[in-house]
Amino acid sequence: MANIHELTQRFLQVYGESSEGISVFHAPGRVNLIGEHTDYNGGYVFPAALTFGTTLLIRKRSDDLLGLASTNFSEHKHLPIQPIVYDEADDWMNYPKGIVNELQQRGRKFESGFDLLFHGEIPNGSGLSSSASIEVVTAYALLTMAGYETDTVDIALLSQKSENEFNGVQCGIMDQFAVANGKKDHAILLMCDTLEYELIPFDSGSYKLVIGNTNKRRGLVDSKYNERRSQCEQAVQDLKAAFPDVALLGQISLEDFNANQHLIKDETVRKRAQHVVEEIDRVVRSIAVLRANDLAAFGELMNGSHDSLRDLYEVTGEELDAMVDAARAVPGVLGSRMTGAGFGGCTVSLVHEDSIERFKEEVGRKYKEATGLTADFYVCKIGNGVEQLS
Ligand code: GLA
Repeated sequence: MANIHELTQRFLQVYGESSEGISVFHAPGRVNLIGEHTDYNGGYVFPAALTFGTTLLIRKRSDDLLGLASTNFSEHKHLPIQPIVYDEADDWMNYPKGIVNELQQRGRKFESGFDLLFHGEIPNGSGLSSSASIEVVTAYALLTMAGYETDTVDIALLSQKSENEFNGVQCGIMDQFAVANGKKDHAILLMCDTLEYELIPFDSGSYKLVIGNTNKRRGLVDSKYNERRSQCEQAVQDLKAAFPDVALLGQISLEDFNANQHLIKDETVRKRAQHVVEEIDRVVRSIAVLRANDLAAFGELMNGSHDSLRDLYEVTGEELDAMVDAARAVPGVLGSRMTGAGFGGCTVSLVHEDSIERFKEEVGRKYKEATGLTADFYVCKIGNGVEQLS
């Protein structure tokens, strides 16, 4: 967690005046435990909020300017709070700008401007949802400061809309939802079609979730991501021959899919759809085995998820596969998989606490031998969703 005293000093360096009137908010990053590339197909996901993410210091201004600054970048600027326009040169600032724009589009009027200082704790490009974390903390903080209601489901939706439309990234709802609605020591079972969700206590006893960062930047992720999305849409079109009312792959049961998959003409499209339908089923089975306290069975489902993302959905790549292979070879590891969009980013493994040091050493070494890259590891605690810090 960030040092608020230091951040306050930084805020005063950038924006001046006294620390009076500064409020502090935090939104986490997220790790998805299972249910990958199912959200935009209207299926289940099972993510959890992390204990680190984005801390935001904010103070009202007496004029109608918006101040944007970050401890992670040197540039900062003031711009009119309205109208807000996307500008590629503004880089990360387009995330908070998109939120301010979206809130105003929804009729939330601000009587004054604000100064904002962000402190990002999520390694850039790691696939742990740094952008969702910035969006959600901005929306929650602005709504709170202006005296509006803060409905965290609504905040997730408007943050996703902003990322889709203002930033042009076609993500699903999982990241923003997890960041907005997470709860300490719980994972979120979310049905992405209806947004019905349940907080499920995640108690893995002497086994810990260990995140491995491949430190491979997720190049090309946007174009490949959009390609997967359209392949899923193509599969739905083909399956309509048997299920005319179906709009999303998540609405088709595994049984119905198995009996009708021949309707999908293109073999690649068929493989993509098979991953989605089986992955949704793996989430359902995960909840059952976790309720029965069978962590070993959950670990096997994690492995099955990764293998399917590697062989059917084809979004893993050399780095993630090398890390997962090395992880599974360590005694005391129940399961290991990629998490997030893929093509780089992070893995998540379920590791016995007595094996963690050996895990870091062996996986780090083998990963470096295989890829030339240095991995980072974080033993993960599950934290709260967005909140105001006292
Ligand atoms: C990214 C997207 C999410 C989700 C995952 C894959 O993290 O932002 O909406 O689609 O990829 O499960």
